Parts: sequence; C-alpha cells; structure tokens
Amino acid sequence: MKATLSNGVSGKMGVSESIQMSAMQHQESGYFFNEGVSFCIFIYCFGCKSTKIFVLLQANMKKHEMAKLKRANFGSHIGVILATAGSAVGLGNVWRFPYMTGENGGAVFIIIYVICVLLLGIPCMISEFIVGRHGRANTARAYRKLAGGGPWSLIGYMGVLTGFLITGYYAVVAGWCGQYVWASLIGRMSGSPEYFQQYFASLSTNPVKPVLWTVVMLGLTYLIIEKGVRDGIERASKMMMPTLFILLLVIVVASCMLPGAEKGIDFLFKPDFTKINSDVFLSALGQAFYSLSIAMGCLCTYASYFSRETNLVGSATQIAVIDCIVAILAGLMIFPAAFAVGVSPDSGASLVFITLPNVFQQAFAGVPALGYVISLVFFALLTLAALTSLISLHEVSTAFLHEELVMTRKKAARIVTITTIIIGALCSLSLGAVEFMTIWEKTLFDIFDFVTGQIFLPVVGFLTCIFIGWFVPHKLVRQEFTNWGTLRGRFFHLYLFLVKYVCPLAILFIFLHQLGLLK
Ligand code: PHE
Repeated sequence: MKATLSNGVSGKMGVSESIQMSAMQHQESGYFFNEGVSFCIFIYCFGCKSTKIFVLLQANMKKHEMAKLKRANFGSHIGVILATAGSAVGLGNVWRFPYMTGENGGAVFIIIYVICVLLLGIPCMISEFIVGRHGRANTARAYRKLAGGGPWSLIGYMGVLTGFLITGYYAVVAGWCGQYVWASLIGRMSGSPEYFQQYFASLSTNPVKPVLWTVVMLGLTYLIIEKGVRDGIERASKMMMPTLFILLLVIVVASCMLPGAEKGIDFLFKPDFTKINSDVFLSALGQAFYSLSIAMGCLCTYASYFSRETNLVGSATQIAVIDCIVAILAGLMIFPAAFAVGVSPDSGASLVFITLPNVFQQAFAGVPALGYVISLVFFALLTLAALTSLISLHEVSTAFLHEELVMTRKKAARIVTITTIIIGALCSLSLGAVEFMTIWEKTLFDIFDFVTGQIFLPVVGFLTCIFIGWFVPHKLVRQEFTNWGTLRGRFFHLYLFLVKYVCPLAILFIFLHQLGLLK
C-alpha cells in the first residue's frame, strides 16, 4: 500500500483509490480476486481514463498472486516426514525417554507411552497440522486466520513466543554437544569418572566457550534456514536424519554386543507392573508432548509448507512412529552399555555429558579405538538430533518475522539468529559465569526451561484442542482432515472426540501435576 502511494498516484483518496484499497484488503484477507472483478475495474478505470491505476492494480494483484503461488512448500512426502520427524527427534529422545522408561517399569512404561502418543500426541499433532496447512502462513497468522482475528489468535502468538524462547537455550545445549564432538575428535574424552564430571562443570560455567558454541550452532542453523524451505530445511533433513539413524544403529549394535548387555535389555523391556501409578501416566504424557514438539509453533509452521495432497493423519502417524523408534533405540544404546559396566544411568544433561562418556570409555576399554569412535559417533548423533530440532524452532520465528513484518527471509533469519544468540548467551552465562543472573535461586536457563516446557507448552496445547474441538467449524476441520473429501477420514469422529474431551483433560492433568497441584 505504501508503495502505491509513494508511486505518486495520488495524495487524496479518490474512488479509484478506494477500489484499489479495498481490492488490496480483499487480497490481504485471503479472498481470491477473480477475473470478473478485474474486468469491471478495468471498465471503470477506463471510463475515468485512469488506466495507470488499473495497471498498477493489476501489477499489485499479480504480485500478491505470485507471492501466494511462490509460498514455499516441501517438495516431497519424504521431505515432509524427515523434516517434521527431525523436529520431533531431539535431546528429549536421548536424555529423557530411556531414563524414564527404566525408572517407570520398563516395558510397561513403553506401552503406556505408545498409547499416550497414539491417543493424545497424534490428535494434537493433527490439530496443529490443520491450523498450519489451512492458514498457509506462520503460526501467528495461521491461528489468526482460523480465528477470524478474534481472541483465539493469541494462541498463535504464544506458540511463536514459546518457540522463540526455547531456541536460545536449546542452542546452548546443542553447543555443548558440539564441544563434545570436538573434544572426542581430539581425544579428550577419556579419563576417570571425576574427570568427566569436572569437564562438564568447567564447560558449562565457562564464560566464553559455550557462548561461542551457541554462536556456531545458531550460525549453522542460520545457513540452513536462509536457503529456504526446500533447499535449506528439506535438503538438510534428508541428509541429517538418515545419518542420525545410522549413527544410532552403530552404537546400539556395539552396546548390545557387550558382555553383560542382556541385563540392560531386560531392565528396559522387562515389565514391572508394581511401578504403575498415576505418576507414570502423567510422566509418559508429558514426555509424549515434549518429544513430539507439540505446542511450540514448529508443527504448525512446518504444516504451512505441506501441500494439499499431504495426508495429515498418515504423516502424523509416521512421524510419531519414527520418534518412538528413535527413543527406544536410544534406550538400547544406553542401558546395555551402562549395565555392562555396572554404572547406573541417570537423566538429563548429566546422563549425556557425564555418565555416558564414562560408560562408553569403560565399556570399550579393551579396544580404545572403538571407544574413541563410539564417543565421537555418540556426540555427532546428539548434535544432529539437537540441530534438526533447532532448525524447526528457528523457522517458527523466522517465518513469523518474514511474513508479519514483511521483510526478506534472510533478514528475518538474521534477526532471529542474533536475538536468540543473545538469549542463549544470557542463559549460558547464568549457569555460573555470571552470578547475578539467577532469579528466585533459579538460573535463567532453568527459568526458560520451566516457563516454556511447563507453562506455555500445556497452555498452548490445551487451548489449541479447545479451539479446534469446540470453536472451529467441524466442516472445515473435516475438509482438512480428509483433504477435501479425497480421503475417507475413517478416524474423523474418534479424532474429534479425543480433541474435544480427552486431550484437553489430559493436558490439564499434566499441567496440575507438573505444578505439584495434583499428586
Ligand atoms: N521434540 C524435541 C525433543 O525431543 C524438543 C523440541 C521441542 C524441539 C519443541 C523443538 C520444539 O528433544
């Protein structure tokens, strides 16, 4: 609009301009401006001898149509699956799932987890897909379109904010992984258990190193994002995901072949029914949501690049299956090796950065070259998993800035990279390098983790279910679900039932449980 005015058509508003304006408003609100209307305007403009305006209007409409046509798309089904699975497969699969399985009754937990993924994770994922593909825009605009600009639009903004806040601190952890790859490469990943403990403590509290690694990780992410959806995200995912899978298999095989590995396999898969309680259910549920990257804007943003032919239910199922397989394989990578050397595994950062390097070193002490390779492969795998998730997180904010503030993709990506580097650096420094960056005795790092994972995630997930289940016309939901009637949509009623009643209630329970209000 600014461009038209500055083209010097007119300072004061005439009828032609009003038409021009309303035409553009129509385009903005997504209406198709058909040939007939163009023709009427042409007659009108011709009558007024304002052909110049017509030409401008045509040009503008073309630009809009082109922009619509040009909106990025994933180029293939495998691209859709690998990119979205890349978002889902992350640190959560490696450092939380195996431990939770071991602690919560082994096989029983896996069964409960799979049920949670099927009955609750997949419907929530489909709901985000519906919003994203319907909107064909960044998460904020996609919700806004579906909500008709009403208060439900806020969910989209919250999703973008959540994605943005996580990007920074997730990049810090990705950076640690990068440093460990380097350390493995130069042969620094060997020593006593205390050595590993100290190594991690001195890295995480170092004022410079982790910040530099955060810059490297976000820089790499930028280089991929900047290339666009097909040439950047899709291409990178097609290379990174199979590599990740192969690396994972290498360690699983090596770990399961160790003498004494059966005990670890038993621990992971032997059901212990005495461990089942409400806690196990809620933990499984929380893990399912986090692991599938639900409610962070990622799924919605990626779905906006799906084509009309993408089967949303089929894709969500395939992605969830990949995520579950990687999580279970991660268990098979960790427990057999840990039991073989008699080390009891824990969870979180200390598992991957302290316990496991020690386990791998001890387990393969007989063949030091193998220990070296396994450590390198393990951290390379972890870095890849973190990077593919980081790309999806970065894309949420990049797409938002690119479309909402109408700037080039490159510029948007650059702004997101710089701001998340700042957030990441502050999070990293709060871990020890700078004392005053703790609030209520919690580091900035933990606060970001808490606010995004335990507050925003359930709130956005809950509201999305309520919005899709109760407010969006079912006809529209069905159209997206069945690809406009071209698919049978056998599970539509089940899906709707789950999204309307079961998912919101389940999320509410996790929320209260996480806050300690429900035991
Ligand atoms: N799903 C990722 C994991 O398992 C975490 C993540 C959450 C990534 C949200 C992107 C967005 O680690």
